[in-house]
Amino acid sequence: MTEVAEGQCAVVIVAAGSGQRLGHGVPKARVPLGDEPMLAHAVRGVVKAGIAAQICIAIPAGDAELERICARLAAESASAGVLNFSVVEGGADRSASVRAALEVLGHGITTVLIHDAARPLAPAGVFDRVTAALRDGAKAVIPALAVVDTIKTVVPASLPSTGAGVEKVSGTPARNQLRAVQTPQGFDVATLRRAHEYALTLDDATAAAITDDAMLVEAIGEDVYVVQGSTHSLKITSPTDLLLAEAMLQGPLRPRWVEG
Ligand code: CTP
Ligand code: MG
Repeated sequence: MTEVAEGQCAVVIVAAGSGQRLGHGVPKARVPLGDEPMLAHAVRGVVKAGIAAQICIAIPAGDAELERICARLAAESASAGVLNFSVVEGGADRSASVRAALEVLGHGITTVLIHDAARPLAPAGVFDRVTAALRDGAKAVIPALAVVDTIKTVVPASLPSTGAGVEKVSGTPARNQLRAVQTPQGFDVATLRRAHEYALTLDDATAAAITDDAMLVEAIGEDVYVVQGSTHSLKITSPTDLLLAEAMLQGPLRPRWVEG
């Protein structure tokens, strides 16, 4: 296990997904954004934020290309002062990839940020807000944005005349209480480890419905605090998201993007 001075922060980047919805036929972390793989942007964003004593990346098993990319990023991060750079084999789902990374955190690590490689443009301001809340005593912190669409809950239904299968609205939660949640999510390491031990006790259907680490921390009864996210932290899921990220990175929009 890596030796890290006591009281330090690690950043885990989960990059072991297959990128089915993006449809490039390769893991999303390898898909080019501008002239670099998405993972390179994510790692550089973490280094630039200046908060990581250790960076740990979870990649798909046996992906030699991502191993090479990680070796290059490890060297680049070391020259920028982040000397502890670990790469682990991810798991079958996102939670399993996070657990694999938690196994290799250095002894001195007391807080950890879990970040998606699929959010390669998260700005330093978000990392700062999350780590500041951890310093102020929060054991779990998530960045989030107010929701702009009206959100409905639905149930399966049939149309009255034809019986055609559709959905119908079962409710409309008050929009001012809804938040769209992003990464990096920050945690006290012991709390996150406890939450992931709890995850291992869940049945398959419940475990499949876990979409972020904060859900697990909520489930063990800890408070999860919310800080302001950023529109730059968009998650690249579909080809449209990739186009938008490209525009943010290098297009004519760029000089106008000043949000932190
Ligand atoms: N992830 C992971 N291990 C998995 C599944 C997902 O590390 N077994 C990571 C992805 O690499 C991504 C993040 O979790 O950075 C969010 O997942 P998502 O956006 O769903 O990415 P993919 O699973 O790769 O995409 P898809 O669901 O379209 O296949
Ligand atoms: Mg996925």
